[in-house]
Amino acid sequence: MITLKIDGKTVEVPENTTVLRAAEAAGITIPTLCDHPDLTPYGGCRLCVVEVKGYRLPMASCALPVSQDMEVITENPALAEARRGILELLLSDYYDQGYEDGLGGSNELLHWAEHYHIDLEQAMAKQPRYRVDSDPNPFVWVDMNKCILCTRCIRACADVQGRFVWSLAARGAHTQVVAGAGTTMLDARCESCGACVAYCPTGALNNKMSLHLGAADRKVTTTCTYCGVGCQLELNVKDDKVIRVTSNSDAAVNGMRLCVKGRYGYDFIHHPDRLTQPQVRKYLLDGTPRPPGRGEWVTVDWDTALDLTAAKLSACRDIYGSNSLGILCSAKCLNEENYLFNKFARQVIGTNNIDHCARL
Ligand code: SF4
Ligand code: SF4
Ligand code: FES
Repeated sequence: MITLKIDGKTVEVPENTTVLRAAEAAGITIPTLCDHPDLTPYGGCRLCVVEVKGYRLPMASCALPVSQDMEVITENPALAEARRGILELLLSDYYDQGYEDGLGGSNELLHWAEHYHIDLEQAMAKQPRYRVDSDPNPFVWVDMNKCILCTRCIRACADVQGRFVWSLAARGAHTQVVAGAGTTMLDARCESCGACVAYCPTGALNNKMSLHLGAADRKVTTTCTYCGVGCQLELNVKDDKVIRVTSNSDAAVNGMRLCVKGRYGYDFIHHPDRLTQPQVRKYLLDGTPRPPGRGEWVTVDWDTALDLTAAKLSACRDIYGSNSLGILCSAKCLNEENYLFNKFARQVIGTNNIDHCARL
């Protein structure tokens, strides 16, 4: 373990911890932009600079390993001035058309600009350099006018998703983030997982389906229903409608990762064709012979639907035997629900004919 002092507080952390993580462990917040705990340190934006006793210049805390008896200052007037200068430089290349939440919507860059009392309108670029919505990806909105070259998208796509879609192209003031060798995201092997969007601190990459929908009233943490992995996701709800899905690093199974279905496949929730009540064929309710094409559906309550289903299953079992029936359950169900299906098949129906959708 290494012992050091941060803002006069004694902190003990394992060797090779960065000063930034040591400060976080001690409950001290250092402003960051290019850093994210899930990603390889980059040390590009310099917003996290701190003063270290014995060092001539401020150091980027996200890339600086702790050392024994180190003494670190994370905030003072000189550091605040340095951060203001860095933010002003970044903002001088940042152009916001105001299509999301009006000018100065919420993102990490704007949060820190506000924190250091920067006049956004004065500091921001006065005209765009790139086409807004420059990529045809159906889920990811690309507006490189808001890009600060932090490379979080590049590292997220490579480190988290293993797809290597994004990279830096050109040099100096012309440096920009491009997909592949300057092609579209999908042509560069993007699988639309949205990880780059989740890690982008400026809204340069955004969720196309949620643009213009503003901020959520509340977030509901739940489990994705698409497969048996059980990823945790957050439903962002506004006026009782899900307007976007987000992920967070604390999720035990998946962290920030989600696949395209979990992150973007939520429009079925409010789809007008979605069944929200049970329906049965009318002739089954009436007890009349089956009409050609099996006739119309009618909406019924759950007791009616379940009683009818139970009666039909019992009749099949009694007439044709238990093995005339088979049960298909779902990998989307919880373990406990699939356990109950197993009991239902074997003990209630009396058959071993049971399988689930993951094998279909
Ligand atoms: S959506 Fe996923 S696969 Fe596509 S570029 Fe972003 S991180 Fe890479
Ligand atoms: S697109 Fe976003 S995450 Fe990628 S480099 Fe630009 S600001 Fe950073
Ligand atoms: S957060 Fe440390 S250099 Fe960007």
